[in-house]
Amino acid sequence: MTLMASLLRPTTPTLHHNRMTISFPPLKPTSPNNLPFFTTRFKSNSAKCKAFLDNIPKDLLENTIYLNQFPVLRSGLVQFQRWGFLVFAGLTWVYLTARPGVLIGAIDAYLLAPLQLGLDNLTGRRNLKRTDFRIGDKLGEGSFGVVYSGVVVPKNGNIEEEEQKRGRSKATNLNVKSKDKVILKKVKVGIQKAEEFGDFEEWFNYRLSRAAPETCAEFLGSFVADKTNSQFIKGGKWLVWKFEGDRSLADYMKDRNFPSNLESIMFGSVLQGVDSSKRNALIIKQIMRQIITSLRKIHDTGIVHRDVKPANLVVTKRGQIKLIDFGAATDLRIGKNYVPNSTLLDPDYCPPELYVLPEETPNPPPEPIAALLSPILWQLNSPDLFDMYSAGIVLLQMAIPTLRSPAALKNFNLEVKTCRYDLNKWREYTRLRPDFQILDSDSGRGWDLATKLVCERGSLRRGRLSAADALRHPYFLLGGDQAAAVLSKLSLSRK
Ligand SMILES: Nc1ncnc2c1ncn2[C@@H]1O[C@H](COP(=O)(O)OP(=O)(O)OP(=O)(O)O)[C@@H](O)[C@H]1O
Ligand SMILES: [Mg+2]
Repeated sequence: MTLMASLLRPTTPTLHHNRMTISFPPLKPTSPNNLPFFTTRFKSNSAKCKAFLDNIPKDLLENTIYLNQFPVLRSGLVQFQRWGFLVFAGLTWVYLTARPGVLIGAIDAYLLAPLQLGLDNLTGRRNLKRTDFRIGDKLGEGSFGVVYSGVVVPKNGNIEEEEQKRGRSKATNLNVKSKDKVILKKVKVGIQKAEEFGDFEEWFNYRLSRAAPETCAEFLGSFVADKTNSQFIKGGKWLVWKFEGDRSLADYMKDRNFPSNLESIMFGSVLQGVDSSKRNALIIKQIMRQIITSLRKIHDTGIVHRDVKPANLVVTKRGQIKLIDFGAATDLRIGKNYVPNSTLLDPDYCPPELYVLPEETPNPPPEPIAALLSPILWQLNSPDLFDMYSAGIVLLQMAIPTLRSPAALKNFNLEVKTCRYDLNKWREYTRLRPDFQILDSDSGRGWDLATKLVCERGSLRRGRLSAADALRHPYFLLGGDQAAAVLSKLSLSRK
């Protein structure tokens, strides 16, 4: 009770924030019962305290000092509090929105992902079945999956009738509308890690379908085979995408007339009147712009693709370049599919550092903690630069015809390693007789960009351009060349 009474006494120390007054009470207790806690606890010191207090002039002790009496001090304190709060809020905002985006990532994980799941369940997108599709030609086989073309079986089942009428077995031979064409990836059963990679690929596709859908093939969902017959094995997982185009960039690059074979798809007829070497340079520039723009978008979400190469870039019939094959991707915001010290990448497109993060980086902590630490991790290591090296190799291959074959690319990699990843040294050293015409046109801006992509990451990870920096490189800035005119004509013709 006495303690309560002492707390309620008007002479108790008080700090009135709202009225901006600070009052100091008499330090000398008026009765022994009112002794503050610390004086009773340290009884041995009480005599010393008493002596000290006795020496302080009484009028000073009994006076109350109000901050109101010092307007300058008061307004300074208010300003300090206000600015302190603003600076703290600003820094927190900068941190949470810095790449790879803790805040946006949290909104995605806790709000958008459940919302997408709910909507997909309502629309039936998460309830795909084996019988919804007819499997066609095999398009490719990786370590963990086999890729097929296919079609969606219409509700009235007329694909089967058509098949019987024509006596054909392959779905792709059928006269189906392109919107019904799909790509199916069968995740290999019984292969170590295959199922895990299938799950990662599915996760990355859903994540990107929310965060940057324009960068990748449209993901339709997945199903698990419910029985074993022809291509299906009971329990095996299948991933399904919209069919985005007949050919990958690698397919186009195999043709002798690359890049002209992409001219009408990329530009329609707008390049008429431009001379042929300039046309080729413009087509390659347009492809690179798209690849790097997509990389900037996926890097902004914290994802590093780790397998950027012409075979994983599909060209749509509207001239868009879509990234596919996210089985090796890693999300460094939450450490998804990140295993320190592990690399399973295509050596022909892999940068000299081999890993997105230094080998000694530990296993990621639980997701929310990893997400909170991710801006620091990203700033220190710039893992996105991994994909930028691969993009640089794609640029070299597109612009220099003698680097397009797998054998020539292997030789290039050996030579450039000998030159310590310095393209200018390699240019003097190489025996591959490269034709630099396209890269040297336009004051050599293309060559300069290539030297800043195909290089070591360097100290402080500033040696190689990020996607955002590459897009600001003079190669992409529309100067005296015809690109500006062509692109504006193109955007008009596409409206
Ligand atoms: N959505 C799509 N639209 C059109 N074609 C596609 C699509 N997805 C994949 N493809 C084609 O299938 C091929 C293989 O696909 P993907 O790269 O995903 O599989 P993979 O496991 O890496 O097999 P591979 O070893 O052949 O690369 C691609 O190179 C491309 O030609
Ligand atoms: Mg692939």
